[in-house]
Amino acid sequence: MSVTGNSNRDNFSSKFGILAAAAGSAVGLGNVWKFPYVTGQNGGGAFLLIYLACVFILGVTVMLSEFTIGRRAQRNVFGSFKTLAPGTPWYFVGIMGVVAAFVILSFYSAVAGWTLEYIVRSVDGSFQSNESLSNAFSHFITHPFRPIVWQLVFMVLTALIVAGGIKNGIEKYNRILMPLLLLFLIILCVRAVTLPNSLEGIKFLFYPDFSKITAKTVLFAMGQAFFSLSLGMGTLITYSSYFGKKENLASTAVNVSIADTLVAILAGVVIFPAVFAFSIEPSSGPSLVFITLPEIFKQMPLGSLFGVLFFALLAVAALTSTVSVLEVVVAYFSEEFKITRKKAIVISTISISALGVLASLSLGPLSSLLLFKKSIFDLLDFTASNVLLPLGGLFIVIFVGWYMRKDDVLDEVSNSGKLKVKFFPYYRFIVKFIAPLAIAAIFIYSIFFGSLG
Ligand code: PFF
Repeated sequence: MSVTGNSNRDNFSSKFGILAAAAGSAVGLGNVWKFPYVTGQNGGGAFLLIYLACVFILGVTVMLSEFTIGRRAQRNVFGSFKTLAPGTPWYFVGIMGVVAAFVILSFYSAVAGWTLEYIVRSVDGSFQSNESLSNAFSHFITHPFRPIVWQLVFMVLTALIVAGGIKNGIEKYNRILMPLLLLFLIILCVRAVTLPNSLEGIKFLFYPDFSKITAKTVLFAMGQAFFSLSLGMGTLITYSSYFGKKENLASTAVNVSIADTLVAILAGVVIFPAVFAFSIEPSSGPSLVFITLPEIFKQMPLGSLFGVLFFALLAVAALTSTVSVLEVVVAYFSEEFKITRKKAIVISTISISALGVLASLSLGPLSSLLLFKKSIFDLLDFTASNVLLPLGGLFIVIFVGWYMRKDDVLDEVSNSGKLKVKFFPYYRFIVKFIAPLAIAAIFIYSIFFGSLG
């Protein structure tokens, strides 16, 4: 198996940079926006327990497998499969990854754009006006161009960071933004737990009521774990292709998963006490952070300050994720079509933004345009989260578990024997048997369940 030496490729320069960038990709809207409402709709603590199992059994395994592929091949996601499995159709998994990146970024950047509008609204006091916050939210997202302007601003910010390259763009900004995110999160947590009645919210998040667990809960938990850890589409294959040969892949995978889970739980600790303190339904769905929380900020002393902090947190979390998704597409275009990164960035940003604008418009002026009974926005979200990511994850574990030679995997995971890897037999067993079966079962159920829905 040939492994190309790519010594002239840009690389991460530090351990902290790698952790910040990989955690930056994982920590995003999935943690702060999606996790609390999915948890709210699926019974709180019981969901959390299943989620933890999904993250630490399946998630860590898939992540380590992505790291193994990426660092061994040192290429973009498509090139990685071409390098490690020459002359086979495995490159198809790489193509799927690039398509998934394209699809995710198109609807994700729409929501990311909303966070910028909401920072402005927190500052200028629009939350205090008499219009109901739910009307204000639907007016905004159905507006013909306002959300699109913010979405494009977000795409440009993302492109500018990626344009700096790995060391001087992605690593540099993640090293600044991730600690900042943690600071905002801690301030908001302290505020939330000191609200009256906050214990109710904490109880909701941590108290497991097993009667709430159904097959659907398991499906959601697993889908959420994949999305939240940025798995299944080669984001982490792409990032790890820039890791140094001394990096400990297994401990990085564990640390990133811990960091991602902690942020999700802390986001719950911010949101649920606030929701209970102001007697609002915890299961109010996607609008939880754009309608419910502003309602709470409106009633809270110094609410606009906490509003700005919260939406800035959301924006920063989203930005470090969009950067990692754009890099998948940019690395692919620049390496496979031998064009400069600059050209690749311009092409990918413009084409993704075009699809993104459609996704945005499908919530407003184009809302009557339905495909498979779904708006374009929902269809893109469904295709990526329920189809492409689990399918990608499935192929990735089959590739590492069954296609790659065991000795090659061991060589990569142990840094050519320099690291002790006592866990390897367990990892091998999960990647070969447990992970493919679990992911396939959940994927099939998801398709079935999705087509019923
Ligand atoms: N992990 C990000 C989040 O939780 O918001 C979203 C994401 C980024 C998904 C990168 C997939 C991906 F490849």
